Amino acid sequence: MTEKPTFYITTPIYYPSDKLHIGHAYTTVAADAMARYKRQRGYDAYFLTGTDEHGLKIQQRAAEAGLKPLEFVDGIVKGIKQLWQLLDIEYSDFIRTTEPRHEQLVQKIFQKIYDQGDIYKSEYSGWYCTPCETFFTEHQLAEGHTCPDCGRPVQLAHEESYFFKMSKYADRWLKFIEENPDFIQPETRRNEMINFVKQGLEDLCVSRTTFDWGIKVPFDEKHVVYVWFDALVNYLSALGLGGADESKYQKYWPADVHLMAKDIIRFHSIVWPIILMAAGLPLPKKVVAHGWLLMQGGKMSKSKGNVVDPVVLVEKYGVDAIRFFLLREMAYGMDANYSEEALVNCINVDLANDYGNLLSRTTAMIEKFLGGEVAPGSDGTDFDAELLALAAETPANMAKYMDKVDIANAIAEIWKLVDKANKYIDYTAPWTLNKNGEVEKLKTVMYNLAEVIRQVTILISPVMPNVADRVWQQLGLDAAAAGQDWDALAWGGLPAATKIRRGDPLFPRIDWEKQLAEETEPAPVEPAEGVVAPAIEPIKPEISIEDFERLDLRVCKVVACEKVKKADKLLRLTVQLGPDEASQRTVVSGIAKYYQPEDLVGKQLVLVANLKPAKLRGIESRGMILAASFGDQLQVLQAPAEILPGGIVR
Ligand code: ME8
Ligand code: MG
Repeated sequence: MTEKPTFYITTPIYYPSDKLHIGHAYTTVAADAMARYKRQRGYDAYFLTGTDEHGLKIQQRAAEAGLKPLEFVDGIVKGIKQLWQLLDIEYSDFIRTTEPRHEQLVQKIFQKIYDQGDIYKSEYSGWYCTPCETFFTEHQLAEGHTCPDCGRPVQLAHEESYFFKMSKYADRWLKFIEENPDFIQPETRRNEMINFVKQGLEDLCVSRTTFDWGIKVPFDEKHVVYVWFDALVNYLSALGLGGADESKYQKYWPADVHLMAKDIIRFHSIVWPIILMAAGLPLPKKVVAHGWLLMQGGKMSKSKGNVVDPVVLVEKYGVDAIRFFLLREMAYGMDANYSEEALVNCINVDLANDYGNLLSRTTAMIEKFLGGEVAPGSDGTDFDAELLALAAETPANMAKYMDKVDIANAIAEIWKLVDKANKYIDYTAPWTLNKNGEVEKLKTVMYNLAEVIRQVTILISPVMPNVADRVWQQLGLDAAAAGQDWDALAWGGLPAATKIRRGDPLFPRIDWEKQLAEETEPAPVEPAEGVVAPAIEPIKPEISIEDFERLDLRVCKVVACEKVKKADKLLRLTVQLGPDEASQRTVVSGIAKYYQPEDLVGKQLVLVANLKPAKLRGIESRGMILAASFGDQLQVLQAPAEILPGGIVR
């Protein structure tokens, strides 16, 4: 048996000092989706996350809470693990920097670098930002001696410290980056890092003596190791390097991807590789920096008070929708603005309308036209080849982006296929095939649609791990949905004669305006009996019975229906007002927002039959369909099936 290829991906280890927000969730969901994707493709994917538990900030927070540092972080780490569970994060391991397996390796590496003379004792004087755990030189500070990253005051620190000879490695680093042009992604960050190093790399202060919540410097117990030197080593200590069993290290190192936001790319692309060079260890293959999730123009962070709690969002919108939104919204390497309205819009457009509707339209038509059974027919349509060609090439198109960790574009490739399938319904007009008795074509169209839905669902599963179960249920597939790998993408995986089982919409539409009104306004007071609710439109002026009798209202049967091209609101209906085709006429109705064409075919409606004809988008409309509406709800008035077309409504 050949060994599976491996894929090792990491997130940063997060500080357990503040509550994590959806910015942190973005990185973790992205890494989880990458790992799931690689597993689908036959890789042995190892996904590491964890917590960065040392440092002055944690020590201070714990003291404020009246707890020992470890007790303080234990509670928070528990909450972080629950959050990852809620978000369906399947990490392979969760490393805590307070674990012995980590502490021993940090000490070993520190000792080795010291022994070879690349760590030396000196005096540090500089400006320290405690919340950011970062030293700055005078000229790096922002206005008024504040931290250039978080804007808070910094403290002047003079202390005996150990220094790491980063400067010695600058040329080696530059050469490495030149020889490995893909090491830092995206390109803009790579250029920034090169410029930074070319301006001259200073030695890094790697120990502190003013607090003791950290890993002790092995040869000088007064000192604790600088928290970044400590933290970065997690990517190796989690694999057991330096411990009793190094098999994971042998198997997974070097890491394929270290993923993070741009705020800490410098530590990962400069400091970390130089630590590894000094320690004589192989470098990771890639360091990928995504952008920030911004709120009201600023980076989401606890200190700014603009944090969005992922727990609340998941409860409100469901985990799949949140994961999809995060990964779809953040363009590669760019910042993205977060707003709940954008989230709701993404759910309504991409999920409810494009994907969910594709499934519900398809299953509804299979039920209505084919008695619920789907199997390819012996004849096809002119539109099949193009749909099948796109289905065949979509996995490769998606993979091209996934392999760069450009998940937003990978999703966009899948959605091209979703769009194509929706258009395929419009072009093939299954309701017309049904009307004309073209059963073999109809069967092929329905099979192709169901098969494309199956493929899309496999491809999107790393992003939305729960949809497959629900879609499989509706498609009548009995095989386990979970763990479907890319082999299952072979066309025709949907067995012939499958019985579909229609179900609830995958993603119900959300009425944003209504939800906003409900959330911001006090609960409406129930109107007292006999009092008319204020939102009801006033009654129009009186008319006589003669006025009313001038209207000719008829029962009509919808025999065909289609969308009007380039008009989102209009449907073109062919209605019949008598026993034969001679009584058919065309009516254009502004109800496309409420009905799909196939929903209306076969229904008996009420028509204002003597309305003066009018041209809408070049189509002559003769008459008007009656509908009942309230607020933004609308439903056509259905005439009883027992009354034949042409019957009078009075
Ligand atoms: O930096 N948008 O931990 P941290 C996008 N412990 N991503 C965001 C974000 C936002 N608004 N806010 C946070 C640390 N992140 C160190 C890391 S690693 C050896 C040590 C994500 O808790 C993003 O991945 O401040 C960022 O790099 C990370 O959280 C920082 O998390
Ligand atoms: Mg931070």
